[in-house]
Amino acid sequence: MTPSSTPGTGVSPLLSGATGTGLQAAELGSRFSAQVVRWQKSHGRHSLPWQNTRDPYRVWLSEIMLQQTQVTTVLDYYARFLARFPAVADLAAAAQDDVLGLWSGLGYYSRARNLHRCAQDVVRLHGGQFPQTAELLQTLPGIGPSTAAAIASFCFSQRVAILDGNVKRVLTRVTAFSGDLASSAQERELWAIATELLPRRQLPETMPRYTQGLMDLGATICTTRQPSCLLCPVQGMCRGLAGGTPERFPVKTRKLKRSAQSLALLWAEKADGSVWLERRAAPGIWGGLYCFPVFDSEEDLLAALPAPLQPRLTAIPPFVHVLTHKDLRLSPLVLALSAREARSTRLPGTGAWFARDAWEALGLPAPVRKLLAQRDA
Ligand code: ADE
Repeated sequence: MTPSSTPGTGVSPLLSGATGTGLQAAELGSRFSAQVVRWQKSHGRHSLPWQNTRDPYRVWLSEIMLQQTQVTTVLDYYARFLARFPAVADLAAAAQDDVLGLWSGLGYYSRARNLHRCAQDVVRLHGGQFPQTAELLQTLPGIGPSTAAAIASFCFSQRVAILDGNVKRVLTRVTAFSGDLASSAQERELWAIATELLPRRQLPETMPRYTQGLMDLGATICTTRQPSCLLCPVQGMCRGLAGGTPERFPVKTRKLKRSAQSLALLWAEKADGSVWLERRAAPGIWGGLYCFPVFDSEEDLLAALPAPLQPRLTAIPPFVHVLTHKDLRLSPLVLALSAREARSTRLPGTGAWFARDAWEALGLPAPVRKLLAQRDA
């Protein structure tokens, strides 16, 4: 597939095609950013709790939470994190278990581990102050180029381009960029276009607004299916719309290869309701979280138990839990033990008994939390 951008030039088709001269091209580019900025002022989102601040701690926290999670879900978590850790130094000083516990339910737990490490690096390597450029921000754990650009543009008005999924959609449509984003060269090309299109004037005011405007356009108008082109502030210059099928963009050929895995979970429970949980190693599925001991098969689970206990297992119907790249088929097997049996039985792994009132604060994988909640209901 040939990209519709001019190869090797990094010049956007929005900027190149309709114009002819560099001067006209620049004008068109600046019209685009001006429209986005104006639209953000009147129609964008303004009252999200991480807006109206230039505090990099707050902005960073929100950006990490929003990486793979919807705004509506993030709102509660964001408030709880800030209440518990009002400043980066508080987060840095926390125990990792507390951070994972508070993150529990947001998923993608490597984000939480990186969040914690990042706070520690900000304190240890940067005197407790976030660096002020996208280039330096990217050196911190969990901060990729787009997140770094979001923080640097929101907090320090740096002229740098974000390129998350929503923004890729907006920019590929408006410029009819048909390069395949599965190719990193094409993604770089789009990044260059995104940089060309950035505002050039009054950056302290325009950069935060433009960045938020692109995010808002992608989330509310330029949606994956049935975009609301009639409401779009850049409909007049959108080449995807002019071509009749804006939904054709972005082009990305490589499909995620999904895999499937079956796991058996040993749900050992004492008469007082406490359960046996072990902290899982990172990296790996649910790394750092507290989980029922996990086995590759029910046979493996049985083999890990003393023979007299094996007939005492009760199976719960298996269910599928969907991760990003993988479908997990989970088969929980329940083992009820008296207090005396629990004392005299060596359960597999390096777990411990956790009473019901301790579960809330623990980082638990979502399916384990659900199983425990169902049982409690
Ligand atoms: N997604 C990523 N960053 C965001 C922000 N600042 N506001 C709303 N949604 C976002």
